[in-house]
Amino acid sequence: MHRLDVSDEEFRALSNQVSEFAARYLQQLPSMQTFPAEVSGGEVERLFDAELPVEGIGGKAFQSLNDIARTSRPNSPRFYGYVFGSGLPIGALGDFAASIVNPNVTAWRSSPSAVTIERTVVRWLAEAVGCRGFSGSLTGGGSSANLMALCMAREEKSPANELGSQGGIVYCSPEAHMSIAKAVRLLGLGQVAVHTIPTDARFRMRTDLLRQTILKDLREGHKPIAVVATAGTVATGSIDPIQEIASICRQHSLWLHVDGAYGALAAIAIPQKFTGLELADSVSLDPHKWLYQPAGCGCMLYRDPAAAQRAFAYSEDYVRTLSTDPIEGFAFFEESIELSRPFRALKVWLSLRYFGLRAFRESIAEDLRLAQLLAAEIESQAELELLAPVELSAVCFRCNDEGRDADELNRAVLKRVIQRGKVYISNATIRGVFALRACLVNHRSTEQDVRAITSEVLEALRDVRRDDAASK
Ligand SMILES: Cc1ncc(COP(=O)(O)O)c(C=O)c1O
Repeated sequence: MHRLDVSDEEFRALSNQVSEFAARYLQQLPSMQTFPAEVSGGEVERLFDAELPVEGIGGKAFQSLNDIARTSRPNSPRFYGYVFGSGLPIGALGDFAASIVNPNVTAWRSSPSAVTIERTVVRWLAEAVGCRGFSGSLTGGGSSANLMALCMAREEKSPANELGSQGGIVYCSPEAHMSIAKAVRLLGLGQVAVHTIPTDARFRMRTDLLRQTILKDLREGHKPIAVVATAGTVATGSIDPIQEIASICRQHSLWLHVDGAYGALAAIAIPQKFTGLELADSVSLDPHKWLYQPAGCGCMLYRDPAAAQRAFAYSEDYVRTLSTDPIEGFAFFEESIELSRPFRALKVWLSLRYFGLRAFRESIAEDLRLAQLLAAEIESQAELELLAPVELSAVCFRCNDEGRDADELNRAVLKRVIQRGKVYISNATIRGVFALRACLVNHRSTEQDVRAITSEVLEALRDVRRDDAASK
């Protein structure tokens, strides 16, 4: 046996140990602190920042799993920060099996089943959100899907692959995710190429201003290339008017990308809010958010595979596929940034086959219902104030206290909520105001878990007031 192999017996023993660890962890998850408050930077460094081991310690290496779990922020049912899916155990088993089979999902010839499964999963996701006929690929997350989408947009509207950047303007609202401006910067267009279009009272891009800005830019000799509509903005979950934006894009021959990393999968439950999604040239959506998959699974959909090939196909002889068969000659590397690619699709494929789409539809609908419940709870409390309409499942609010700077007060409340460890929420800036923000994309959250948000915020508010009074 090779020194880097383990015997069958050892493999079974170690995998049983990992399964035991996983089952225990999942059992404890509902009652865990939402943030490991007692953990310090020093302790975590001491545990994990060790010297490079020249000699191995065998199975003892696995003993650190408990420390890793103890010092991690858990996917508890009361975690409502950012936009982070809850990690289905079925998906985790998919990741395990995927790593064992370890196919290179780069071209059909390197892994016929894994490539076919990924193409199937992409087709399923496209159909599930109303974009039947789109193709695409799975990515590391929404940021890379957005980068790839804007790379395609640039190559279609202002080709750069041969001669370098020829410039071009990308439009989005100020509510667009930071990965949009980052993508524009990475593509060499520069931050100056991001033209932001103000929003209406519901945080949606104003199409009248989009129209005006495009016309002004054209008059001034700029080259508009793309509009990014967001379907579920990261702060408030607002959805830009996709259909109207699509018609402006058509009129000016611009690429329409819809960043649905957070929201687009909600189209499975409430398609009526996503009218026009099918008119986009590209859409990003994140199974590791609202399809509850373990981290590392975004998806990029596009209408025209030839556009993906124009942007990404650049192959050396040694990888070129010789087959001209449309199935067997298919290569993801011709339509993506990546060459070697992991088997991301297995977790999604297993999860959808295990539970069926209906279960996901119902779970997403429940998250949406719980978000409305939370909004109603907030509105029923005199000390709390809702700061934005609840379009999807992000709820932005704050505490009011006459005579105290609201931003400062709410920062203190947030810090205290996190320290108390009963619920985890994050923050957002809403029209310049510091907001507390809870985002429900967690299949484990129950009504009781959601009611804990307001009770914990009010408790934290009392703690802060008590501390204030004591320090006077
Ligand atoms: C609207 C939107 N776009 C893009 C992203 C980035 O996704 P990822 O974290 O998967 O890169 C996020 C993350 O929250 C998001 O909410």
